[in-house]
Parts: sequence; structure tokens; C-alpha cells
Amino acid sequence: MNILLLGSGGREHALAWKLAQSPRLGALFAAPGNPGIADHATLVDLDATDHAAVVDFCRAYAIGLAVIGPEAPLVDGLADTLRAAGIPAFGPGKAAAQLEGSKGFTKDLCARANIPTAGYVRAATKADALAALEGFSIPVVIKADGLAAGKGVIIAMTREEALAALDEMFSGTFGSAGEEVVIEEFLTGEEASFFALTDGSAILPFGSAQDHKRVGDGDTGPNTGGMGAYSPARVLTPELEAEVMATIIRPTVDTMAADGVPYSGVLYAGLMLTPDGPKLIEYNARFGDPECQVLMSRFDGDLADLLLAVAQGRLADQGPVSLADRTALTIVMAANGYPGTPEKGGAIANIAAAESGGAKVFQAGTAIKDGVLVANGGRVLNVTASGESVAQAQAAAYAAVDAIDFPTGFCRRDIGWREVAREAQ
Ligand code: AMP
Ligand code: GLY
Repeated sequence: MNILLLGSGGREHALAWKLAQSPRLGALFAAPGNPGIADHATLVDLDATDHAAVVDFCRAYAIGLAVIGPEAPLVDGLADTLRAAGIPAFGPGKAAAQLEGSKGFTKDLCARANIPTAGYVRAATKADALAALEGFSIPVVIKADGLAAGKGVIIAMTREEALAALDEMFSGTFGSAGEEVVIEEFLTGEEASFFALTDGSAILPFGSAQDHKRVGDGDTGPNTGGMGAYSPARVLTPELEAEVMATIIRPTVDTMAADGVPYSGVLYAGLMLTPDGPKLIEYNARFGDPECQVLMSRFDGDLADLLLAVAQGRLADQGPVSLADRTALTIVMAANGYPGTPEKGGAIANIAAAESGGAKVFQAGTAIKDGVLVANGGRVLNVTASGESVAQAQAAAYAAVDAIDFPTGFCRRDIGWREVAREAQ
């Protein structure tokens, strides 16, 4: 079977690496891909917003499965177009991708299906938002409804900050994403992510992870797309996972199906483990980046087979997903300046040396310039290693980081600290 993978980040490098190990794979194509993905796939210059061009390519190259990595093409309905053309696609269609594309949509679904989540009000005008704000205590969370590249959430520690956040949202800072806002009750607890594959009716858990969103050591500084992650998240015990499946994931899948918008793909639930039990913070309609890198490092099965079963609605026939019990940990090496304006063009060397001890270096924002691998984005490399404990995985990953020569890059030195501290207790 020939596969087309859409996307160009570290997540897609991890997917390509795993898809390439599938015995049933014929040719693997990636659009646009990156130099790391090129080790496993033929790169094609396709624009994912040009649906007709993607369909034409799939027909010309007998693509039996299209795997859509990032959220933008999902929210844009690429999976619908492919399915309408008879091409199996992994990822939800436009209507179901609203679980990520509209925070208000997801909150309303939670309310109807009795899914535990923070109390909320949706507001489409500033006047409504100001009135609704009166009903919330401080801290309060203000969110742009739509996709805002991870920047549309403001945790206001004072009423003044909340007012300023509403001013900013309704002045168009987030474009159409901020035309409507969700005001939410502030939840306390530890955060963890849970992943599940579903074809709209059957569901298979796909493991847990925790990431580090802040740019600096000790979880300080501005938010990023994620500076590192590890899997599993041992705070999400088997009992808590079962509770998440029963109270959050199952009712979501069933309600979407009953509403005539069955969800097919991976459901990535951002959870808060509150004193009252796990609550849903948000859904993403795709694998996390860099969470995917650690999940794929633990996944033991045939990824092409499994994703095709999701795309074709045959998930009920599949056995449980096999994930190694060892911990996988990934460290993001970013270009200086990230998450502001990252420095482009800095040379990267010694990846082979870093991998010689068993680590895997996934590439995200890289390019080849004059024959040299260089930085070409904010998050550049995802240095990933496994171990029997988090401390072991962390030590192996930092040993690999230290072997890499990337003078214009940086990384956090404390990825996994929560679990390492717990292990030391
Ligand atoms: P989101 O984009 O919805 O995942 O929000 C980004 C981050 O904001 C989350 O990972 C949480 O750390 C935080 N957050 C979002 N909603 C809440 C909430 N209701 N209470 C506390 N923290 C929140
Ligand atoms: N690492 C967070 C995300 O992929 O949304």
C-alpha cells in the first residue's frame, strides 16, 4: 500500500519513521516533509490547501491511505475531500474537527453529554463577555474560540487582566479565532494528556503523555508549542485512565456519532487531574507535537495497518494497541529566539553520533542549505530516548543532546522533572 503523509514537523517525522517500518508499506510520500522525513519518504511539493491537487496526486500514485498530521488541513476539511474521492484518510472531517477548531463547540458538547470540564460561558460580543465575567471568580480563563496557534488562552490573575484579555480578543488580535470567546472557571491540579484512536464507534486507548509548555527551566517564561514530553504519564494511573475513557472519551465519541458527525482519527484529550477527578481542558484532533514522538517510540505494532483500520471504520477488529512499558522522553532543541523570532540558518551536526547510543533524533524545523543541515524554524530537533525509568530515559536523551553540535540552538535541561522527582521519593 502506498501512503501519503501530510505535514512537516517532528510529529510527522515520528509518524514517517514508524510507517516506514510497516511490512505492508509500498511507497511512502510526504508533503511537504523535511530533511529528516526524507530518510523514510519521497518528498513531494504539494500544497495541502489545494485539495484538488492532493486528490490528483493520490490518484496518480495509487495512494491507499492519506495520513493528515496537523490540525489546519483537518479543520479545513481535507479528510472530507479525500474520502469523497474514495481515498481512505486518517483524521476527522471538517465538522468533527470542530472539537479542536472551536472551543465553544467542545464546551457545548461536554455540557450536553455531562462530560466533566470547567464551567464556562460563550460570548460573541464584548458586552456579553463583560456581563458574563461578573459571574466568575479570579483567576479566570479567557479563550479565543478558534485556532490561534496555541496563543489564544489567557489565564487572568486579576480582574484587570481579564478585562485587558477581552479587549485584546475583541480588537482582532487573534483574527477570526477571537470573534467569539469562551470564559472558563480556573481548574487546579496536574495536567496530563490522553490519546485514543476511534473510527466513530470503536475506541482504542493510545497511551498518555505530559509535556512542558514554558520555554524556560522550572516551567518559567512564555508558552511554546512544547519544549519536551514523556510517555507514559504515570500520574494517569490505570484507574484514572479507565475513568477518563468512561466519563470523557466514550461519551464524546457516542455523542458525536449520535449528532451525525462521527469522529474518526486520534482524539487527544488535554486533562486536568483535579481533586474532583479528571476534567477535560481541551481536545485536539491530531497527535500532539512532541507527544507523538514519545508515543511512537513506545508503539510496538504496525502503524500503517492500524491507521488504515481507523480510516476504514474497522477498528473493532483490532486488538489493543501495544505500547512498551518503558518510558520514552523527548527534548526539543529550539533555535535561539524561540518562541519569538527564531534565528534561521544555524548549522546542525553530529546527529549520527547522537543516535549511536540508541537515541532517535526527529527533525522538525530543519532544511538543507548548500549541503548542510540548518535550522529553519522555532522547534528544530526532538531528541528522543527510552529507559526503564524516567531518570534513565532523561539521562540517555541529554547524553544525545550533548553530542549534537547546534551552536545557535538551546533546550531546557529539566524535561521530565516532575516524574524524576516522584521516582526519587
Ligand atoms: P488549551 O489551549 O485549552 O490547552 O489551554 C492552554 C493551557 O492553558 C492548558 O494547557 C492549561 O495549562 C491552561 N488552561 C486552559 N484552560 C484552563 C482552565 N480552565 N483552568 C486552568 N488552566 C487552564
Ligand atoms: N504539544 C502540544 C500540542 O501538540 O498541542
